[in-house]
Amino acid sequence: MAEQAKRVLSGIQPTMDSFHIGNWFGALNQWVDLQETHECYYCVVDLHALTVNHDPKQIKQRTLASFAQLLALGIDPNRSVVFVQSHLAEHSQLAWVLSCIAGYGEAARMTQFKDKSQKEGADRATVGLFTYPVLQAADILLYQPTAVPVGDDQKQHIELTRDLAQRFNSTYGQTFTIPQTMTVVGNSRVLDLQDPTAKMSKSSPSGAVFLMDSASVISKKIKSAVTDSGREVSYDFEEKPGISNLIGLLAAATKRPIEETAEAVSGQGYGSFKQLVADELVACIEPIRDRTSQLLEDPSELTALIARGATKAGVTARQTLNMTYQRLGLLGPGN
Ligand code: TRP
Repeated sequence: MAEQAKRVLSGIQPTMDSFHIGNWFGALNQWVDLQETHECYYCVVDLHALTVNHDPKQIKQRTLASFAQLLALGIDPNRSVVFVQSHLAEHSQLAWVLSCIAGYGEAARMTQFKDKSQKEGADRATVGLFTYPVLQAADILLYQPTAVPVGDDQKQHIELTRDLAQRFNSTYGQTFTIPQTMTVVGNSRVLDLQDPTAKMSKSSPSGAVFLMDSASVISKKIKSAVTDSGREVSYDFEEKPGISNLIGLLAAATKRPIEETAEAVSGQGYGSFKQLVADELVACIEPIRDRTSQLLEDPSELTALIARGATKAGVTARQTLNMTYQRLGLLGPGN
C-alpha cells in the first residue's frame, strides 16, 4: 500500500470579532506552515461556539470574520480545505455515533468540561458542553487526519478522540485513522500584557493585541504593558515575565529566534524597547487587518470560498460517514 499522505485537521471557534496574537503566534502560524508539508483541513467550529451563551446577532459575522482572518493570515484555500463546521451535517451525524461508544464516565473526566461547567454553574451547564469533546472527535475523525495540531489544553480531547477511534475500529472493523497529537512548536507562550502570569486571552481585552486592532491601539497596549522592576531589558521568564513576554512577541513578529532577539535588545531602556515591539507588531499585523477588512467589505468572494470549502470537505466527510454507517450495519437508503 502506498504510504498514507500526511494530513492535519484543526479547528478554531468563532467566538470573537478578531483573533489575537496569542492565537496567531501560538497556533495559527503553525497552521500556515503546515501547508508546506501536509494536506490541511481547517474548520471554523461554529457549532462548538453554541455550547456557551452565544448571541444569534453576532455569530454569523464572527464566523465570516474568522474565516476571512484565516485567509488573511496565509491559509491558502487553493491548497487547504477551509470550511465552516455547520455547513456539513456529517459532523453532527458522526458525533451521535461516537456518543454511543463514549463512556459517560470517560466524558465526565474531561478537565475542560469540569472547569467550564463549574464556571457556568452546574445548573446551567448543558448537555452540549458535556458532549463537546465528542463533537470535536467527530470533526477530526471525519477527515482521517494523521495528526491534529493543538495547544496543550486540547491534549486530553485528542486522547479521547484516539480512544474512541481505536474502540470503533476494534469493534466494527478498520474505519478511522488514529491521529497523533501535534503540539505547537516555537513560541507558544504568549502571555497577557496586563498580567504576565496568565495566558493571553480574549476575555482580557487590554491584555491582548487583536489582529483587528488599529496601529494606535496596538501601540497603546504595548506601551501600557506591565513591565517588571528594573529598567533594562533582559530575558528571564522567572524574574521578568512581562519583559520576556514582549521579547517573545518581538521574536514572533520578526520571525527570528528568541535568543537572537533577546541578545539584540538586551540592555535597552524599557521605553525604546516597547516602541520597537509596538512598531514591529504593527508592521506584521497591519497587512492582515487590511486584507481581512477587504474580504469583509465585499463578502461575495469570501462567500464563494466558504461554499467551495464545504463542497471539498463534504467529499471526504461523506465517504467516512458512509463507511461508518456500513460498519455499524445500518440499513442504507439504497440498501
Ligand atoms: N476545542 C478546540 C479549542 O477550543 C476547538 C476545536 C473544535 C478543535 N474541533 C476541533 C481543535 C478539532 C482541533 C480539532 O481550541
